[in-house]
Amino acid sequence: MAELICLQHISKIYNKGKNEVRALDDISLSIPAGRFVAITGASGSGKSTLMHILGCLDTPDHGSYFLAGADMRKQSSYTLSRIRRQKIGFVFQRFHLIPTLTARENVQLPLVYAGIPARRRTAPAEQALRLVGLDQRMDHRPNQLSGGQQQRVAIARALINDPPVLLADEPTGNLDSNTGEQILDILQQLHRRGKTIILITHDPRVADAAETRVLLQDGKIV
Ligand SMILES: Nc1ncnc2c1ncn2[C@@H]1O[C@H](COP(=O)(O)OP(=O)(O)OP(=O)(O)O)[C@@H](O)[C@H]1O
Ligand SMILES: [Mg+2]
Repeated sequence: MAELICLQHISKIYNKGKNEVRALDDISLSIPAGRFVAITGASGSGKSTLMHILGCLDTPDHGSYFLAGADMRKQSSYTLSRIRRQKIGFVFQRFHLIPTLTARENVQLPLVYAGIPARRRTAPAEQALRLVGLDQRMDHRPNQLSGGQQQRVAIARALINDPPVLLADEPTGNLDSNTGEQILDILQQLHRRGKTIILITHDPRVADAAETRVLLQDGKIV
């Protein structure tokens, strides 16, 4: 399997039976390593459902998902959590930073979960913060940072384990358009450095930042 991400005939059905909703209906999609893809579509089209499956946070009812050649159906929940930690960096609309921790400490958290000792956590955290232009804000807590700066901390945190895939669900949704563009610039920089980026957005202008676009409608790719 050459593709980094390969979905084959994926379906996700909620409320099986009478009022069932086909949130995803026979989705097949391949994403090669290094691609910057936007997944777009109206509210309710299935974007978040697809993101949860791509991020190994949920499993499909039908079809298969291969990530870096491995069949995600065959993994234990323990292995899936390791895969999430090593292979995927998550960025969300609400930045999900810990309010009592500084930027440097927030960025280090995935290393704490990976069992990396404290003395080996600081340098990579500072490097990730420099990459997103926050060298001057490492000791600030989230409430001492602007929204765009908080999102940059969240991106640095997503990058700390150097995952091949960055999965961003409406990363500019809580930001004004100028600040949103700065975040999209960072995603484009990361793409130029070889990261695979999947950007989920309902906003066609945000989707323009990506190399390719996948449009969902009623759970199908159109
Ligand atoms: N847990 C659930 N139980 C039942 N139906 C659900 C559930 N989650 C999502 N759905 C339905 O599945 C469909 C797809 O939802 P999804 O959240 O993936 O859409 P979305 O494209 O992310 O929308 P939005 O842009 O509003 O975030 C919708 O019709 C939704 O009502
Ligand atoms: Mg959604």
